[in-house]
Amino acid sequence: MVEFKTGVRSYASVMHQHASAWTDDELRRIARFFAAQSAPSAGNR
Ligand code: HEM
Repeated sequence: MVEFKTGVRSYASVMHQHASAWTDDELRRIARFFAAQSAPSAGNR
């Protein structure tokens, strides 16, 4: 997300458009949320 926001990843992407609207604190909260998720088991797809 930070790479999209700062343009390390392409500015042309829709991800840049919306990643740039999050504050640094919000990005940290999003990262913490996803880091806390467990991976789905193979039989659960
Ligand atoms: C908080 C919400 C979101 C997060 C955390 C997120 C995260 C990401 C990440 C990490 C990637 C890179 C995936 C990779 O390279 O393997 C990505 C790519 C992408 N996302 Fe999101 N995304 C979010 C919301 C959205 C939304 C709302 C849209 C569309 C309206 C979107 C459209 C895309 C597209 C088109 C790509 C590919 C872009 C490219 O490769 O240049 N994402 N996203």
